[in-house]
Amino acid sequence: MVFGRLEFLWSLGIGAWSFAARRTGVNSIKQRPVILITGASQGIGAAIARVFAAEIKGVRLALAARNARNLRAVAAGCTKLGAEAATFGCDASDEAAVAKMARAVAKRFGAVDVLINNAGAFAQAKFVDTSVTEFDRMIAVNLRSAFLVTRAFVPAMIERKSGDVFFMSSIAGLGAYPNAAAYCAAKFGVTGLAQVLRAETKDAGVRVCCVHPGATWSPSWSGSGVAPERIMPAEDVARAFLDVYRLGRRTVVEEIVLRPQLGDL
Ligand SMILES: NC(=O)c1ccc[n+]([C@@H]2O[C@H](COP(=O)([O-])OP(=O)(O)OC[C@H]3O[C@@H](n4cnc5c(N)ncnc54)[C@H](OP(=O)(O)O)[C@@H]3O)[C@@H](O)[C@H]2O)c1
Repeated sequence: MVFGRLEFLWSLGIGAWSFAARRTGVNSIKQRPVILITGASQGIGAAIARVFAAEIKGVRLALAARNARNLRAVAAGCTKLGAEAATFGCDASDEAAVAKMARAVAKRFGAVDVLINNAGAFAQAKFVDTSVTEFDRMIAVNLRSAFLVTRAFVPAMIERKSGDVFFMSSIAGLGAYPNAAAYCAAKFGVTGLAQVLRAETKDAGVRVCCVHPGATWSPSWSGSGVAPERIMPAEDVARAFLDVYRLGRRTVVEEIVLRPQLGDL
C-alpha cells in the first residue's frame, strides 16, 4: 500500500514535469550553452550578449568584433551578470581572420551551440551615387562576413545534429530601402543565405532564424537627429533572439520582423 502511494506520487511528479517541459520547452536548453556573437562590441550585438548573460545562468559567451577595447568592456559587463565571457578580435569579412577566430573559439570553449551573425554596417547612398568601393564594402561587412563565419561553424553543428544559427538581416532585406542601395542588396543576400541554410539543414537538427529589425537605437544612429524614443531599444531586439532560442527544439522560428510601434522611418 505504501509502495502504491509512493508510486502514485512519483508518477504525479514526472507527469507534472513532462507537462511543464512540453508546454515551455525548458528541457531543450542545454546547460551553459556556448553562444558566439559577431559584432558584439556595441549596439545590438552587445545587447544580445547582455540579455543572454542575464537570463541563462552560466552561459558561455564568445564575443567577436574588431574593437578590442569595446569588446572587453562588454565582456566585463556580461561577467558581472554571471556569464563566462571571452573576446575574440576578428574582422568577420576576412577569411583568414575568421579561420583564426574559429580555432581560438574551439580551443577556449569547444563546440558552439548558437551562432549569432550580427556584425554589419549601414551606409546611406542612392543607387546612382554608390561607388564600387562602397558597394564592395557593404557586401563584405554584411554578407561575406555572415557567409564566412557560418561556413566556419555550421559543419560541426550538422555533424552533432544540433545547433542554432541566427542571421541579422533587416527590413532592408525584405523590401526596397531607398537611399541605401548597397546595404539593401547586402541584406537581401543575407536573407537568401539564411533561407538556403534553413532548407538545407532542417533534417540535421540545426535551426536557422533570420531576423529583420526596423530602426533600432544603437551607436549607428548617433548623430542622425532621430530621437532614441522614436525607434526600438536594442534590448527588445536582443530579447527576441533569446525567446526564439528558448523554444523547444521541435520548433523553429524561421523569420522575425520587428518594427518601431510608430512604423519605419
Ligand atoms: N540599428 C538598426 O536600426 C538596425 C536595423 C536593422 C538591422 N541592423 C543590423 O543589426 C546589426 C547590428 O547593428 P547595430 O545597429 O548594432 O550597429 P553598430 O552599432 O554599428 O554595431 C555594429 C557591430 O558590428 C561590428 N562590425 C562591423 N564591421 C565588422 C567587421 N568587419 N568585422 C567584425 N565586426 C564588425 C562592430 O564592431 P567593430 O567595429 O568593433 O568591429 C559592431 O560591434 C547589423 O548587422 C545591422 O545591419 C541594425
